[in-house]
Amino acid sequence: MQPILEAKDLHVAFNGVKAADGVSLSIHDGEFLAIIGPNGSGKTTVLNLCTGYVRPKSGSVHLDGQDITRLAPRAIARLGVARAFQIPQLFSDQRVIDNMMLSLAAKDGLWTMMRPLETEARRAEAEALLGLVGLADDKNRISNTLPEGHRKLLDIAVALALKPRLLLLDEPTSGVSALERFPLMEALMGALRQRQITALFVEHDMDVVARYANRVLVWNAGNIMAEGHPDEVFKDQRVLQSVVGVA
Ligand SMILES: Nc1ncnc2c1ncn2[C@@H]1O[C@H](COP(=O)(O)OP(=O)(O)OP(=O)(O)O)[C@@H](O)[C@H]1O
Ligand SMILES: [Mg+2]
Repeated sequence: MQPILEAKDLHVAFNGVKAADGVSLSIHDGEFLAIIGPNGSGKTTVLNLCTGYVRPKSGSVHLDGQDITRLAPRAIARLGVARAFQIPQLFSDQRVIDNMMLSLAAKDGLWTMMRPLETEARRAEAEALLGLVGLADDKNRISNTLPEGHRKLLDIAVALALKPRLLLLDEPTSGVSALERFPLMEALMGALRQRQITALFVEHDMDVVARYANRVLVWNAGNIMAEGHPDEVFKDQRVLQSVVGVA
C-alpha cells in the first residue's frame, strides 16, 4: 500500500547543526504515529520539512506519490496536510467561535472584506468541530481565557477546519496539566476517528505515547535511531537511556 506521506533522505542544517541528517519515514493510512526524542534532536524540524515551513538541502517529501518538497505551507495545507503547533497559533483576543470561522473562511479562500465571514454553513461546521473536540460550551469565550488543554484542543479544531487527511501535531500535551492530558488525547482520538484522519504527533509524555501510538519513531541528533510498536521500543535499552531518561 502506498503511504500517504513519504519522506526520503532529508537533510537540513542550521548554523552547522544537523537538524535533519538523512531522515526517511512513511506514514500509512489510519496510523497514529508518535515521534519521541531529546530536546533539540530535530522533531519539530521534520514536521517543518513535511509542511513546507523549512526547505531541505536535499531529500524529498511525497504526498500520495506527488512531490511536495518545495511547495509553500499553504499549498501543502490545501492538499490535505494540516498542522497543530507546539504553541497554539490562535487569535488570542478573539472568541473561540471566531477562530473557527476564520479558519473555515481561509479554507474556502473566498473571504474578502465584501463578504460576510459568518455563513450558516460555516457556523454549523464550526459548532460541529467544537462539539467533536469537547469545546461546545466554550464557544463564546475569549480564546486566551481558556485553560491550556482547551487552547490546544482549539488549535486542533482550527486545523481540522481545513479538512485534512493527515494531521501533524507538535506536542499536543505540552504545557497541559497531567490531569488534563488523557481527556485531551481522548478528545483528539475521537475526532480523528470520526473524521478518518491519519496523524503523526511529537510527544514528550511517554505514558501518552504508550497508551495511544500504534508506532513510534525515536529521534536522536537529526535522525531516527529506533522504530516500532511502543511495547517494543520501550524495552530497547538505547531508547531508555537516550529518551526516557531525559524526558
Ligand atoms: N528555524 C531554525 N533556525 C535555526 N535553528 C533551528 C531552526 N529550527 C531548528 N533549529 C535548530 O535545529 C535543532 C533541532 O531543533 P528542533 O526544534 O527540530 O528540535 P526538537 O526535537 O523539536 O526540540 P524540542 O524537544 O525542544 O521541541 C536545534 O539545534 C535547533 O536550535
Ligand atoms: Mg520541538
